[in-house]
Amino acid sequence: MEPIDLSDDLSFRAGFPHGYFTWLRKNLPIYWHEPTHVTPDKEGFWVVCCYEDVNYVLRNPRIFSSDKAGERVGGGTGIKDEKTAGKLLNQSDGAQHRRLRALVQKGFTLKAVQELENVLRKKARTIFCELKVGDKLDFAASISAEIPTQAICTVLGVPEKDRKDLCEWIDLGIEAASTSVIASEYLAKIRHYSKSLIETKRDRPTLDIFSRIVHAEFEEDGSKLTDYELGSFFSLLFPAGAETTTRSITGAMQAFIENPRELEKLRANKTLVKSAIEEVVRWTTPSVYKRRTAKSEVVLQDCRIAIGDKVTVWEMSANRDEQVFEDPFLFNIEREPNKHLGFGAGAHFCLGASLARLELKIVLEEFLASDVLLSIDGPIEWTPNNRLVGIKRLPVKVVSRTA
Ligand code: HEM
Repeated sequence: MEPIDLSDDLSFRAGFPHGYFTWLRKNLPIYWHEPTHVTPDKEGFWVVCCYEDVNYVLRNPRIFSSDKAGERVGGGTGIKDEKTAGKLLNQSDGAQHRRLRALVQKGFTLKAVQELENVLRKKARTIFCELKVGDKLDFAASISAEIPTQAICTVLGVPEKDRKDLCEWIDLGIEAASTSVIASEYLAKIRHYSKSLIETKRDRPTLDIFSRIVHAEFEEDGSKLTDYELGSFFSLLFPAGAETTTRSITGAMQAFIENPRELEKLRANKTLVKSAIEEVVRWTTPSVYKRRTAKSEVVLQDCRIAIGDKVTVWEMSANRDEQVFEDPFLFNIEREPNKHLGFGAGAHFCLGASLARLELKIVLEEFLASDVLLSIDGPIEWTPNNRLVGIKRLPVKVVSRTA
């Protein structure tokens, strides 16, 4: 099998290379990826492909750090060493991570998330109701992005007038050729914007989740999140929350169009929505890999991993592991059990999982209620990004309004 450069975004321009990973799971479940001319930091990294190993790495932060380790001055969860490691929620371990997560979780209560339902449902209903037979549209741009963007902007209390600009910076930042998930010039714009929003919320608290987080106090020492920590959280939520969910919604629609029997099953039995959501997250796994750094020497499947080595775990591959999932390449909304790793595992398990599930539920239920039937109407385009894999363009045609 010809090796694929996993550090090159362009290797993902036609979607996730499933064929390659299927071969890896069987023949080379863990291997050392040599650096290529595009690999960040000009340094190799371990590639971990099978479910049990991916799960093990994610659940053992004492060995596999989200911060930095060994001699490194940078670290984090992408292949490239980031200097922000140790300061951000998703790039820290132990006590630092617990503090940040506890403070942020004060805003993200189940009740606060459920309060978003009415706003989001109304939006989804309008979108599907407006579709007419014969309409042609890009489902990704016109529909998928709407709900997650509105959800995150509502969570963050971003005024309506600023939402378009913010979304544009995110889209451009992800698409730009860069070794980071979002190119730094766009990240700087987002951070700059967050500064004034944080000041406003400090002076005049509002009812949104972000405002509650700005004012939240850590029980142990009464400390609050600093402006830097708040700005980092703000910038994290767009790629972590909006982009992932958008990709899941688009991937779900493609899967239902290509598997009409699954759609029929769901129409006939709406109680399947819950298991359908889990299958959608497994199927799409929008956040396809994470990186950790080895804090101590460890042997995994006969491979000796040294202190400071970069270790990448590929959740998308784990979610197609034939040792764990029966018929893993079958989109099956009744899959049971479905212990996918789409939301990660362990200490960094997705903080927004309940919001993401709510959004998917709303979109699926409103889509079913609208009785819209779609067909694919042109070539599908994928985002060329090795971290946030997903469909960038899904051209569809409305073929019917009745099932
Ligand atoms: C289908 C949608 C989503 C998927 C597939 C997803 C996936 C993930 C994964 C795999 C992680 C683990 C990161 C790691 O191990 O390093 C994670 C963490 C996180 N997610 Fe999500 N996510 C989704 C939606 C959301 C939403 C809607 C939000 C927020 C509103 C969100 C906020 C976060 C945050 C803040 C973290 C960091 C948690 C920590 O480090 O403790 N995610 N997500």
